[in-house]
Amino acid sequence: MNAEPPRPTALVTGAASGIGAALARRLAAEGHRLVLVDRDGERLRETGAALPADTELVTADLTDDADLARIEERCRAGLDLLVNNAGFGHPTRFLATPIEAEIAMSRLHMETVLRLTHAALPPMLARGSGGVLNTASLLGFFPSSTYSATKAWVINFSQATARTARPHGVTVTALCPGFTRTGFHGSAGMDMSKIPGFLWLDPDAVAAAALRDWRRGRALSVPDWRYKLVASVGRALPPGLTGRLLSGRDMRS
Ligand SMILES: NC(=O)c1ccc[n+]([C@@H]2O[C@H](COP(=O)([O-])OP(=O)(O)OC[C@H]3O[C@@H](n4cnc5c(N)ncnc54)[C@H](OP(=O)(O)O)[C@@H]3O)[C@@H](O)[C@H]2O)c1
Repeated sequence: MNAEPPRPTALVTGAASGIGAALARRLAAEGHRLVLVDRDGERLRETGAALPADTELVTADLTDDADLARIEERCRAGLDLLVNNAGFGHPTRFLATPIEAEIAMSRLHMETVLRLTHAALPPMLARGSGGVLNTASLLGFFPSSTYSATKAWVINFSQATARTARPHGVTVTALCPGFTRTGFHGSAGMDMSKIPGFLWLDPDAVAAAALRDWRRGRALSVPDWRYKLVASVGRALPPGLTGRLLSGRDMRS
């Protein structure tokens, strides 16, 4: 009798809600074994309750050195897919945001992505399969804030890593969603009432597009044709102009 092939393992950060939870549901439906990481243990357990019983739930604040080291160790032990998705935003501009909050965002969006990717890639490259999906943002194409700068870094880093990993059969993809209905803006205290309903994406649709693009070996995933158009404009215009179009508010407010 033939033994069942081993199930691929995916680790998803920021998996308790929103896009991360949608990715986890989809990966579970596709047969992945899951390791879900989030700083909110309670919400993580609620999300995990609807997933297969062998789903591993790890409460960790990825801006905490000891917590991040634990997750790095898990990545080094071998994964088929690493999803760097945890993230947050600020309601205020640069000088009105406490520097500690800016540093925490920079650490989460850049240092965490860097360290977990560095830990996860070697076993993938040695095996010649697997990959990394990094959640950036459409705003990464539009210089407008510390948030957009960190997400531009994620796009640049993912594209650079993708190029060197591809010949070894490993895919790295930067996911760049536009406005998506999650707890993101509420948690950050942002007023999104002026954003028209038709611009909002559904997290399950974003997750489906992201995994489709990752499987196709694409370095960049921009879900939804309207946002593909917006991204093309952002990439074509000089950064100074896109920045001016977006930066209506004073950096002190
Ligand atoms: N929603 C959008 O419109 C949108 C658009 C473009 C890109 N994105 C990106 O998509 C990703 C997922 O966001 P989402 O929209 O799904 O928002 P979300 O529902 O708030 O999910 C983000 C998850 O990450 C967790 N997290 C935050 N800081 C963490 C930390 N230090 N350690 C571990 N977990 C942490 C959050 O926990 P808490 O709830 O406790 O903070 C939350 O569970 C983020 O990287 C975001 O920048 C979102």
